[in-house]
Amino acid sequence: MDLITTHLPSDMVSLLQNVGDLAERRHVGTYAVGGFVRDLLLGIPNLDLDIVVEGNGIAFARAFARKHHARVKVHERFGTATVTCADGLKLDIATARTESYKYPTALPTIEPSSVNKDLSRRDFTINTLAIRLTTRHFGELVDLYGGQQDLNTKTIRVLHNRSFVEDPTRVFRAIRFEQRLGFRLEKETTSLLNNVVKNGLIHRLSKTRLFKEFVALLSEKEPRQLLARMAKFDLLKFIHPQLKGSSELTHFLKAVERSLERYTLLNLDQPIDTWVVYWMALMDVLPTQAVRDTLHRLPFPRRQAKKLQWVGRGSTLLLRQLGKRPVPKPAQIYRTLCDLPDEALIFLMAKSQSESVKRQISAFLTTYQRIHPLLNGTDLKAMGFKPGPQFRNILEKLLDARLNGEVNTDSEERDFVRKLGQTS
Ligand code: CTP
Repeated sequence: MDLITTHLPSDMVSLLQNVGDLAERRHVGTYAVGGFVRDLLLGIPNLDLDIVVEGNGIAFARAFARKHHARVKVHERFGTATVTCADGLKLDIATARTESYKYPTALPTIEPSSVNKDLSRRDFTINTLAIRLTTRHFGELVDLYGGQQDLNTKTIRVLHNRSFVEDPTRVFRAIRFEQRLGFRLEKETTSLLNNVVKNGLIHRLSKTRLFKEFVALLSEKEPRQLLARMAKFDLLKFIHPQLKGSSELTHFLKAVERSLERYTLLNLDQPIDTWVVYWMALMDVLPTQAVRDTLHRLPFPRRQAKKLQWVGRGSTLLLRQLGKRPVPKPAQIYRTLCDLPDEALIFLMAKSQSESVKRQISAFLTTYQRIHPLLNGTDLKAMGFKPGPQFRNILEKLLDARLNGEVNTDSEERDFVRKLGQTS
């Protein structure tokens, strides 16, 4: 029995069989490759189907889409195409290629080639496994570099000693795979990695590529361990030269983990960028100027950069307000926190030492931010108030009263508003 039919859901099996049928008919070698095969062998679900065609990948993708009523998006420059099937399954189809690097760290120049050559340019042995899809050979494993053996022994190993030099992003990928899969870096690979870090080659990467790697690292399941490995290999300095591993940082990262768990338990069903929370923790241990420099140097999307304004002094001030005795009333808590994105709230929870403050932030997330007065502007008009700046003022005071439990019903709200009208 082959790996595909025994390990994958039936819709994926028939999709791959359809690819194999077309490949057979067009007489082109066609393979599933990369992370998809690696994860299939490890029993990890992975829906990123990467296909390599020994021929024109784009023409193949177009023919497949025509035959199976799928959509196709072509990336002419890279010789690749993404096919989206009617049931939502996706295939990334590429032309088998040889890449040559004009100079180390440059993006590769691409030429059509065979699958063997295509696999030989890849980063680690565990990512060089391929599965044949042509009908007559459907499901056969291609293992040119001992990838299966390295999967069995849980080893990350480069294919050749220039791998990190050609593409230093692989330094970060090595650490990412090592931690994600619970693998170890092979000895020679470790020393090659250390050399690239020492020789400063990572500085040659574009800021965009570097930043993408950091985001990928911090988006993994357990960034704390990843960051500890980064510190061990002296890689944190590429985030900022002043950033170092320390017990303070480790402690903080543990608190971030606990905070994220707490947030998950609140079941808010709101998507957040966990990498931003980790990034906030990293920045919080740096001086203000270093945070500014990092934001200036790396290409943060503006929306995410804005979230970082709360690191350092900003968060210290907020926590001081929440930590006052007696405990602030709900309306004060609401006013303190209402402009903060959830990532910043999680970060504050991690930074605070006080359980009372953590509870206030939880209450804001689950309750206070959802409370609204029953009356609105139209009701105020009907009550004889003239629309104008005082409307906002009245509605804000009404919301505060409601948050503090001073008004609970429609008639209590009306009384409250009338009294406000008399005093203004
Ligand atoms: N690859 C490489 N060098 C890189 C990036 C990618 O050799 N710097 C190769 C690897 O063989 C990898 C494939 O391109 O398997 C696809 O890359 P990507 O989608 O980033 O990798 P995955 O292995 O699928 O990783 P992930 O599970 O994180 O998506």
